[in-house]
Amino acid sequence: MSTAFLAHSDGVEAVVDLDAITANIRTLTAMSAGSELMVVVKADAYGHGAVACAGAARTAGVPWVGVATIDEALELRDAGDTGLLLSWVNARDARFVEAIAADVQVSSSSPELLDVLAAAARAAGKPALVHLAVDTGLGREGALPGAHWHELMAHAMRLQQAGDIEVTGVWSHLACADSTGHDSIDAQATLFTRACEEAHEAGFRIRYRHLANSAALLTRPDLNFDVIRTGMAVYGLPSTDKDTGVHLRPAMTLRARVIDVKRLPAGHAIGYGHTYVTDRETTVALLPAGYADGLPRNAGNKPLVSINGRRYSIAGRVSMDQIVVDVGDHEVRVGDHAVFFGAGTYGEPTVQEWALECDTIAYEIIARLGRRVKHTYVGGGIGGDL
Ligand SMILES: Cc1ncc(COP(=O)(O)O)c(C=O)c1O
Repeated sequence: MSTAFLAHSDGVEAVVDLDAITANIRTLTAMSAGSELMVVVKADAYGHGAVACAGAARTAGVPWVGVATIDEALELRDAGDTGLLLSWVNARDARFVEAIAADVQVSSSSPELLDVLAAAARAAGKPALVHLAVDTGLGREGALPGAHWHELMAHAMRLQQAGDIEVTGVWSHLACADSTGHDSIDAQATLFTRACEEAHEAGFRIRYRHLANSAALLTRPDLNFDVIRTGMAVYGLPSTDKDTGVHLRPAMTLRARVIDVKRLPAGHAIGYGHTYVTDRETTVALLPAGYADGLPRNAGNKPLVSINGRRYSIAGRVSMDQIVVDVGDHEVRVGDHAVFFGAGTYGEPTVQEWALECDTIAYEIIARLGRRVKHTYVGGGIGGDL
């Protein structure tokens, strides 16, 4: 076994190109036809790093940032973010007092949560800014149209008149926006439009109506409303079932350096379960990355690694912390970069390829990156080599 000095990063490195994020935001802003963008940075910006991506979005002039949890929202506030910010996955015991004090806007689907928000608002000394969620067909968050929606609005109006909350938004989420032309899209849009009209009739001044995600922004500009919640498109990744022709740049390259190289004889088994056996004498490269870093275990024996511009198969199973790559007789040295995925410009795999090979979606490949993955930012005025 050989050893070598590694210039930097002894594990997995996510290199995030902030210029790609900025360019994507410009493209999406041009498509949003006057609606405001909300860049979704939940789940650590889908693995890209929430603070850095929210910062890039603000610098690019994006008015809104969206997160799932209050903790995610407060992480951004702690990092100095002061712009419009919405959180929509709210447990009853979340840190609402801090969030309201920090002007984090919050979603509510139920009268009970509105009461929690009202109490927190009194403690914070200012009204909670609330977006009422209506379930137009996803069956997830939101009050059902009809009696539940009217009950939620009536309760919200009482709390608004008491000065505890201010309803600023009405929103819903599409179930099948990624399936272009799916019947449910129009059905949800119709229910959403009606719910917004009812909110208006109930006396609310709704400034922010939002339904669209990346897929809807790319394929259904008629559903932009006032705000568009977009995540995948900002990161330059596919969100629809068909090519929309919109040029977006993938922002993340996931890579690791080769930590060892050795020759194996023909007939040598590799990895747990011996699912790969060399069919000739060959060179194998060892990479310090595994399923603990978020690389799916079923990527084993798939052609998902690129080293020095050449594509190779993972040899055997992905272990918790290591991957073996069969590089044949090609020269690969300790310290060379192995790229798991990137923009695809140099023949390296893309996130979408990983998703297809591992029987999942691109969202999961990036959102599951583990805590050991180190982030390096390039572009946006920050130096670094890619
Ligand atoms: C409520 C909500 N809105 C918007 C988004 C952004 O979706 P996308 O990344 O497809 O743009 C998500 C992400 O799953 C979401 O949960």
